[in-house]
Amino acid sequence: MERKRSLSHVGGGVSAVGDPTLSAALAHALDVAAAAPPTGGDNAEEEDREHVHGFHTYPARMHPETAARIIAALGTPHATVFDPFCGSGTVLVEAAIAKMRAYGTDLNPLAIRLASLKCSYYGDPWLAAFHDAALKVGEVATYRRAQKTGASHRYPDADMQLFAPHVLLELDGLAVGIAHADEDLRPALELVLSAILVKVSQKRSDTTRQASDRRIAAGYTTKLFVKKTVELCGRLKQFRELVKSPPQVQVGIDNATELETVPEDSVDLVVTSPPYAATYDYYAHHELRFRWLNLDAQALESRELGARRTYSRTDSIRAARDLWFTELTSTLQALEPTLRDGAQVVLLMADSAVHGEALRADASVEAAARQTGFTLVAAASQSRPHFHMPTMRAFEKAPRREHLLLLQRDRGQSHHPVEDEPTV
Ligand SMILES: C[S@@+](CC[C@H](N)C(=O)[O-])C[C@H]1O[C@@H](n2cnc3c(N)ncnc32)[C@H](O)[C@@H]1O
Repeated sequence: MERKRSLSHVGGGVSAVGDPTLSAALAHALDVAAAAPPTGGDNAEEEDREHVHGFHTYPARMHPETAARIIAALGTPHATVFDPFCGSGTVLVEAAIAKMRAYGTDLNPLAIRLASLKCSYYGDPWLAAFHDAALKVGEVATYRRAQKTGASHRYPDADMQLFAPHVLLELDGLAVGIAHADEDLRPALELVLSAILVKVSQKRSDTTRQASDRRIAAGYTTKLFVKKTVELCGRLKQFRELVKSPPQVQVGIDNATELETVPEDSVDLVVTSPPYAATYDYYAHHELRFRWLNLDAQALESRELGARRTYSRTDSIRAARDLWFTELTSTLQALEPTLRDGAQVVLLMADSAVHGEALRADASVEAAARQTGFTLVAAASQSRPHFHMPTMRAFEKAPRREHLLLLQRDRGQSHHPVEDEPTV
């Protein structure tokens, strides 16, 4: 039975189906301020986010409050929370704050770097050394600019087109400085560089090819790098105060349809936001950063789920639906052995469109769940704006919605051997 209740923000009423208590908890978790549109320009949404959540953009991040509310409602003390599509680490950060053990995997090497930085517990000496190192990197870039040293190597056409020549030279100076920094500080310095790359480029945001009309003054790129480092130190300190002791978070590269690194029978609660079918191209969005940070993203290029580039190669809506079904069932199959008895799986997913037709995330997940021995126990859904003009028609009849979907393993589907009843 479907219940509706009105909510104040742009998404409108939330529909809740299934178990009343669980679906009410999911509805509450969806009831958060709507995120800025993905093409909102200049990454405006990012600055609004608290502590480590606001450090670096990432396409289709989960709202931190949604993650926090799910974890508060469904997590138990000492539970292990797992996010197999951890992206920038939103769920892991919130699980750490809730004092739970957390494990996150993703096939995107930038995601893994970012999630692990955001969940790090750094003391003041490390933060001071990091700050000093960033100042030194800035000095190297400024010196090279003043000396008109020129680029340290030849840059590909993609960079020549994306950055004004003086910006590219400054970025090169920063990269040279980072390469000479202490090994322990280098990954965080590289992420600061990554955080400013699009802001000083001639591209409006991560997920658009639209050009920006920004004019970047000489010296601004270096100043922004140092400013972003200072800001990151503040954000990491805030996180440290929230968690109070080193959090138990692990992060690693893994394919969500294989999960080779996740022990069997280790997870109590899955909170995750898988890629939406045919919506983003994480590989393409981050290609620039892979290049600048020297990250090997071949596995993501070939095995990214939901990738728009893959779906655009399907020749019909039927082929796209079949592919989506296969991707979802493979994900649930890989997840199943990692779950402890009674584990809950919460997926945040939005409807998407391909070949002019809607792919409804709730119906797709329910079908995949049935096929893999899971039941959709509760769901909450809310309308979400659709920004992609070419597929607008797909949501004429029924609006695009975002869903929180709670799955449990069917009884009898446990992978554990059945033990004899203990004799009393
Ligand atoms: C919607 S985003 C997750 C965002 C994350 N919840 C956050 O708040 O940052 C989906 C993620 O799925 C990852 N992904 C895509 N294909 C994957 C695969 N085969 N295995 C693991 N992760 C994959 C992408 O790299 C991306 O980080």
